[in-house]
Amino acid sequence: MAKLKSLFFCRNCGAESSKWIGRCPSCGEWNTYVEEPVGKKSAQPVFASAERSQPQKLEDISAAAYHRINTHNEELNRVLGGGLVPGSLVLLGGEPGIGKSTLALQVALQIPGMTVLYVSGEESLQQIKMRAERIHSRSSDCLFLNETSLENILVHCKERRPALIFIDSIQTISTQSIDSSAGSVSQIKECTATLLRFAKTTHTSVFLIGHITKDGMLAGPKILEHIVDAVLQFEGDHNHVYRILRSLKNRFGSTSELGIFEMRGDGLREVSNPSEMLITSNEEGLSGIGIGAAIDGFRPFLMEVQALVSSAVYGTPQRSCTGFDGRRLNMLLAVLEKRAGFKLSAKDVFLNIAGGLKVDDPAIDLAVIAAIMSSNIDTAIRHLYCFSGEVGLSGEIRPVSRIEQRIYEAQKLGFTKIFIAAANRKGISLEGLSIQVVFVGKVEQMIKEIFGKQ
Ligand code: TYD
Ligand code: MG
Repeated sequence: MAKLKSLFFCRNCGAESSKWIGRCPSCGEWNTYVEEPVGKKSAQPVFASAERSQPQKLEDISAAAYHRINTHNEELNRVLGGGLVPGSLVLLGGEPGIGKSTLALQVALQIPGMTVLYVSGEESLQQIKMRAERIHSRSSDCLFLNETSLENILVHCKERRPALIFIDSIQTISTQSIDSSAGSVSQIKECTATLLRFAKTTHTSVFLIGHITKDGMLAGPKILEHIVDAVLQFEGDHNHVYRILRSLKNRFGSTSELGIFEMRGDGLREVSNPSEMLITSNEEGLSGIGIGAAIDGFRPFLMEVQALVSSAVYGTPQRSCTGFDGRRLNMLLAVLEKRAGFKLSAKDVFLNIAGGLKVDDPAIDLAVIAAIMSSNIDTAIRHLYCFSGEVGLSGEIRPVSRIEQRIYEAQKLGFTKIFIAAANRKGISLEGLSIQVVFVGKVEQMIKEIFGKQ
């Protein structure tokens, strides 16, 4: 009998090693290696396709298989790149309690005319029923199964032939062909690889739910990133009701798409117009608020930047940001100090992007500067003004991409004035626009435009 061997696996990225290592050479994380037995009980694969696949010419391959399934959830469809591709394996990752099971259940119950199998290894059927009642879903053809053995799941799949399977969660499923316990790196890898073979050969779409803790531990879905077709990440702050679905990898679509949901007492609601939720009307004229027109993915939206500038109590002023890059904030403050002559080095600066969003679109720079200046001089920016431009080191305002889309979004939401880079003037037509477009070249000039005439 072969001797049972054990190996060390990185819980973050799944790298293997024959000895324990303090720092993973593959992903650079510390203390992530765990020992797991790797002896296989049987050499027989759990799922093997009946016939050997044959090499084919491009024109012989039917494209019909790529007819996408409409999940009847606009936001999810968008993030998947226009619907779910049959035979694809999608990983839905996120922290516990963020709403992965709720999203999966809602989608499972919404798809009409399709056999869906919802496998839960975490919740009993009664608990699923309670959740379904909570989200007021009508009954559909969806079948529910409480099972943790991969072999048993595949037996049910062969019998019922569902077109779509949800597995909640991959960490609870285990296969007998591996000795280690459910949730271990080797179990997760093996189960996913088996499900991938199953998905590809039977053209069944599989949604895997995977937990990821704050530090990416507990066999984080990172291990699976290269096996699956698409990785969707469900994120958001537990204190906020908004949840964001991002695609981190997508073999069948763009990775820059974003879906926004609102968690309500009766399930997740799709937010089709994110700008409305992100900005408050600020009719009272509060200082320190700047509205920026950003683009995440292909969707432009307006977001509210809030700043608070106050005299530093301690010797070293504090700079703190939520949803914005701290180093970029420091750079913008240095630009304001050096190029526009504002003394901010002795001030505490706090910055927050409302709604719990994270932005990395440089077009938000101008709104950040406007919010900081507004708080610094305690003067509100006129209600219905918004900004879109990147700020360079010499205080110049740089053009941003797809400016027309941003202008239209601002106009759609009723803004009356948008400040953009002078260099963006070329190639845009202002005809028919009801919003006033103000071209600005330098930070000083913009500050004068907003606050100078008041
Ligand atoms: P859940 O889908 O169980 O999270 P996950 O599967 O990612 O661990 O969601 C759990 C949270 O969502 C829980 O805190 C309760 C909340 N929730 C609502 O606010 N409204 C609802 O309709 C449902 C079903 C859950
Ligand atoms: Mg869950």
